[in-house]
Amino acid sequence: MSLSSLQRRRLIAAARRAAKAAYAPYSKFRVGAAVLTHAGKIHTGCNVENASYGLSNCAERTAIFKAVAEGERRIVAVAVYTPTRKPTPPCGACRQVIHEFGPKAVILCSCNSRLRIETTLDRLLPAGFGRKNLP
Ligand code: THU
Repeated sequence: MSLSSLQRRRLIAAARRAAKAAYAPYSKFRVGAAVLTHAGKIHTGCNVENASYGLSNCAERTAIFKAVAEGERRIVAVAVYTPTRKPTPPCGACRQVIHEFGPKAVILCSCNSRLRIETTLDRLLPAGFGRKNLP
């Protein structure tokens, strides 16, 4: 599904606002994410770290889990914002979780320079594992 430039701008702006809530006292790397669902709603999330580092949750997964908890399971696009010079692509775990709900989702990564990543989940995770691979 293609996105209008207004939808893109709104999604990126929502991800940027979401980064303000990031709980990242250990890495100090603040991340915001915004998910656009098929119903046209935007759900946001931030990274939430833990003193037991491995329990930290990425911004993308926070946003997706919020969307699913609100009954929305079809992801059209995900925006990621980091206050860095270069945009940050979703980590491997988040790619897998996006695949579950939006195997063809548009991925927009923005930062505090003009650099952007604009791609799709199927390019970031080719031949992804999904429900089709289960018996
Ligand atoms: N992080 C995200 O929230 N999303 C990404 O796409 C990359 C990494 C978080 C996890 C951790 O809180 C911090 O950034 C450093 O890895």
